[in-house]
Amino acid sequence: MTDTTQDPIYKTDALIAEDIDAYLQVHQHKTMLRFITCGSVDDGKSTLIGRLLYDSKMIFEDQLATLEADSKKMGTQGEGIDFALLVDGLAAEREQGITIDVAYRFFATEKRKFIVADTPGHEQYTRNMVTGASTADLAVILIDARKGVLTQTRRHSYLVKQLGIRHVVLAVNKMDLVGYDQKVFDQIVADYTTFADSIGIDAFTAIPISGFKGDNITGPSENTPWYTGTALLPHLETVEVDNTLKQQGPFRMPVQWVNRPNLDFRGFAGLIAGGTVKPGDEVRVLPSGKTSKIARIVAMEGDRDQAVAGESVTLTLEDEIDCSRGQVIVAAKSPLEVADQFESTIVWMDEQPLVPGRAYWLKIGAQTVSATVQAPKYEVNVNTQEQIASKTLDLNAIGVANITTDREIPFAAYAESHDLGGFILIDKMSNQTVAAGMIHFALRRAQNVHWQATDIGRDHHADMKHQKPAVLWLTGLSGSGKSTIANIVEKKLARMNRHTFLLDGDNVRHGLNKDLGFTEADRIENIRRVGEVAKLMTDAGLIVITAFISPFRSERDMVRGMMQPGEFMEIFVDTPLEVAEERDVKGLYAKARSGALKNFTGIDSPYEAPDAAELRIDTTEMTPEEAADLIIARLIP
Ligand code: ADX
Repeated sequence: MTDTTQDPIYKTDALIAEDIDAYLQVHQHKTMLRFITCGSVDDGKSTLIGRLLYDSKMIFEDQLATLEADSKKMGTQGEGIDFALLVDGLAAEREQGITIDVAYRFFATEKRKFIVADTPGHEQYTRNMVTGASTADLAVILIDARKGVLTQTRRHSYLVKQLGIRHVVLAVNKMDLVGYDQKVFDQIVADYTTFADSIGIDAFTAIPISGFKGDNITGPSENTPWYTGTALLPHLETVEVDNTLKQQGPFRMPVQWVNRPNLDFRGFAGLIAGGTVKPGDEVRVLPSGKTSKIARIVAMEGDRDQAVAGESVTLTLEDEIDCSRGQVIVAAKSPLEVADQFESTIVWMDEQPLVPGRAYWLKIGAQTVSATVQAPKYEVNVNTQEQIASKTLDLNAIGVANITTDREIPFAAYAESHDLGGFILIDKMSNQTVAAGMIHFALRRAQNVHWQATDIGRDHHADMKHQKPAVLWLTGLSGSGKSTIANIVEKKLARMNRHTFLLDGDNVRHGLNKDLGFTEADRIENIRRVGEVAKLMTDAGLIVITAFISPFRSERDMVRGMMQPGEFMEIFVDTPLEVAEERDVKGLYAKARSGALKNFTGIDSPYEAPDAAELRIDTTEMTPEEAADLIIARLIP
């Protein structure tokens, strides 16, 4: 079906014209090394990558698009799909508007194929490095010979160790600028050795290079006769990459997509994260736990009688059991753990610090779920490995924290499987990747707390009250008129014999939430609790009216997500700040202006206006009575 001669990997080579079969034969059996480069532009990273691409065979970025298209057509075929999957993943991220600032560059030499996760030049942050790192076999840590070991070198090395990258190359660059002086090189290597020891990197290969001049890149340089080791590219060509560890463990494959070209065929495609699989093997689908047997392992060249970790395949099962994207097919006898609370290391990569309690998207394996991060247990000082107390994580910080997901996910500890224990966090509003994480272990709560089924369900409660439950969520500045309007709405509904309950910010803060103040984290917790209470009340069949500033879009969306579809009505009580301040019913704006009251919404704490509320009430044009009528007309048409 696929004509491999059209693959740009091969097209780039002139050899193809002469002896295509021989060339393909060689090329297809080359191993693949994935590596990352750590360092900033100043260290000469771009020059080095440019040099590697230049000195070998390369695929330019503009050919990526072609590759992408081809990879779709390629289906499942050995190494081809491996790269296809990678490119596909990137395409998927682009579609979702998720930006991961890593360009994967593909190049090949006579001996080996390479994927280098290249991170845009000017960026000095760890963010890009981490994103490309969890699948890397090797890390090139670049050092400017004139500067030696810097904090950044230590941070990157610490991360490389945490991320479990097995091979480390210390590339001491710009040797030409220090007169190819062996003493400089030796001193840097000695400094680095001390640090590497302290963080548990017990082996690395140090190479004196000049990316700019080409010393010790493809072969030994005459300028460094004192260096007897291998040059960089030959080292990259020969360093051992093996999947044997992965292949020895039990079988695991996250389902990347479900392939259903017609009613007779239902295949589950994915990259095998661990173990070996054969037709007839008993497997289990997680988290549902349903079991079946492998019917076929389908590949382009025909059915296979076995597939191993690192390969991408399509599996079919003997039974029609539920299995969708993001679920994991595992050996029936040794299933993965399933949990919804974890301790993990988190590397924060965004200018906006971590907001404990806020919901982020968490992407793990082939699955995306909603997750909240608790305040860190501690942050790590990368220079000294000290654990420091911290309430949040700022850009580049590395810490340990508990994470809760909104549903159970199959996982492995990162130390056991990068594929099943590594994740990223994505901000729900900006769609930016804000953190990378590594699961240590699950917290036991999930196993011991079960949902208790009750006989009188929410429908029963609602039927008895002859109404449809709803949440009328009023949001707006302090003094915008939320409470006044909410109160009238409740009175009117009562007159119509509706069963209601009004939750008001000031009141709830006297009881349930009296332990909370007005920091970002406290406001988030305030809204989370109110959301949970409102949810219980809808289960009881009530029409719930809430009046909270609820200044953040994220949390209003979170509460919306807790309710049944159509049950949540966001009502923006839109009063301009000047007007609310002018009214100043409680005198709080005056206090805030004078500095006596900190973190006041609209003054020194933000209010994020809704952009898709069900209803907007302009209080400068409408009386509270009219506003209440409008809300009720929407609720009961
Ligand atoms: S929210 O931001 O967490 O949703 P909530 O609606 O519960 O706030 O409480 C807001 C009420 O608390 C205001 O109407 C006001 O009376 C009072 N308040 C006291 N301090 C502040 C503050 N710093 N910012 C906003 N409201 C405050």
